[in-house]
Amino acid sequence: MCGIIGYIGKRKAVPVLLNGLHRLEYRGYDSAGIAVIEPVGNKIVIEKQVGKIKDLQEKLWDKRIDGHVGIGHSRWATHGEPSIENAHPHISQNGKFAIVHNGIIENYLELKKELEEKGYKFVSKTDTEVIAHLFEELYSGNIVETAVEVAKRLKGAYAVGVISSEEPDKLVAIKQGSPLIVGLGKDENFIASDIPAVLEYTKDFIVLDDGEIAVLTKDEVHVLDINGKPKEKKVLHVDWDVSVAEKAGYKHFMQKEIFEQPRALSDTIAGFNSNLNEELLNTLSNADRIYIIACGTSYHAGLVGKFWIEKFAKVPVEVDYASEFRYRDKVLTDKTVVFGISQSGETADTRFALLDAKKEGAKTVALVNVVGSSLSRESDHTLFTYSGPEIGVAATKTFTSQLAVLYLLALNLGKFRNIIDNRLFENLYESLLKVPSAIEEILKSDEKIKDIAYKYINAKDFLFLGRNINYPIALEGALKLKEISYIHAEGYPAGEMKHGPIALIDENLPVAVLAPIDKFYEKILSNIQEVKARKGKVISITTEGNKEIEKFSEDTIYIPKVEDVLYPFLTVIPLQLLSYHIATFLGKDVDQPRNLAKTVTVE
Ligand code: M6R
Repeated sequence: MCGIIGYIGKRKAVPVLLNGLHRLEYRGYDSAGIAVIEPVGNKIVIEKQVGKIKDLQEKLWDKRIDGHVGIGHSRWATHGEPSIENAHPHISQNGKFAIVHNGIIENYLELKKELEEKGYKFVSKTDTEVIAHLFEELYSGNIVETAVEVAKRLKGAYAVGVISSEEPDKLVAIKQGSPLIVGLGKDENFIASDIPAVLEYTKDFIVLDDGEIAVLTKDEVHVLDINGKPKEKKVLHVDWDVSVAEKAGYKHFMQKEIFEQPRALSDTIAGFNSNLNEELLNTLSNADRIYIIACGTSYHAGLVGKFWIEKFAKVPVEVDYASEFRYRDKVLTDKTVVFGISQSGETADTRFALLDAKKEGAKTVALVNVVGSSLSRESDHTLFTYSGPEIGVAATKTFTSQLAVLYLLALNLGKFRNIIDNRLFENLYESLLKVPSAIEEILKSDEKIKDIAYKYINAKDFLFLGRNINYPIALEGALKLKEISYIHAEGYPAGEMKHGPIALIDENLPVAVLAPIDKFYEKILSNIQEVKARKGKVISITTEGNKEIEKFSEDTIYIPKVEDVLYPFLTVIPLQLLSYHIATFLGKDVDQPRNLAKTVTVE
């Protein structure tokens, strides 16, 4: 949560900082601010605003800030409500150190007490302000040495950017737990919470590891360990085009990302083999159990993955919310595999659950989208989705790409363990290759789905039903709708409806039912009739050509015919579009829904 950016170089800092903050806004949008060192007199100028980056931009419109060194922040509030006082950057009492921070300082109360006893006055309710005062307190005449000392005093997860009027030609960053990259330019360098924030200026990056300090000048970057010793770092070159971080004619990032799914899926399928190796297959094949752990949408992908891995590879799989898994007494052995799924690779619940499991002796595997993310570096093996950056807070293209990796992994593991033969493997693989164009077909129904969405904008509640491998998609449909439209929604296994939720059904309840023609179709048709008999409004998602279902449905959305096991790739698409259109009709901010952040780096 929270986005941080920093710039030092030949350009004026303000436009670079604002530009980067726009791209980081998905990480938090409660308030925003910048701090820049003015070239004349080296004074630090700070501007902050409650609300979005555009509000900060308006505030800065008629101000002249000429400095070439600065830091910026977009906030997702943890300690202290959204307000000017609590907005970052925070400044030390003597006005000489400005700080931006992403994460949580766990020992801030202790540090605050210590600093207050020394006479420091706190103006905010944040944990971050202690860092600014600590820099002032510990300053030795050398900001790099001071950063080493400050880092030793801080506990928790943090990525910090600091500038000082004492040493105006430096930008210093500390990374522990929260993500931070350094962008390498010519006559300029950058820090940021993620790569797209500065992609417009460079394609060369250093991904900082925990316990590292980066010292940037206009011309050079040095990375030190927590004791101040220099470290060698690899430079990561990315080929992404800057357009991946732009809307490219779409109204919202979420809409663009829904429509990018055929491409994201094809890229992920094409890239799969480059991360697969015999060691990984051996580890999975010998596993006494695989625990898939994840949060939100990634958790739903894990639920689908369980079906495939158990079906094709016959290895037992349990799927757990990472936040629950971490603290329960599970049975882990050196043959257990804990498999974390995370788009960002930074979700605290998933990361820490995986790290704990690793300490307890389990093998770990990560499936992530963000190159260089913490989870990818902390696991024994890493698999990637190749969706490109996902900016909308609601996960869409990364979900279908996660499904592709899980499906391919299950097939490869099944072949490796001789559960499926080469012929079946080839057939199932070929079937997956047809999925991107099947998704293209569904996307052509966008206008129709938009019309359907309009009918339900006044609904107070929504129910999503699915069976078997489409049950996780019912959960995902409900999550999508509630997070972006704020309409209460529940996903349920259709067969379970009669055990309770059926009591909710009346003429005001829309019920979206995933009813592809597969071996569960007859059963789900009965469930549809049960809803219909109680006057619920049925929205069916079914295989094209199925006219019968229209008799029992208020609305019917068709998807192409595919192998039964592949339907989750398709049934989710109408649900993404339905949520998107309902939320936009209601005037909601679909890319930045209230109270949410794209990357949740707190527990
Ligand atoms: O980056 P991750 O995949 O670990 O994120 C997990 C969840 O926070 C995420 O899926 C969240 O539920 C999304 N907003 C869902 O659209």
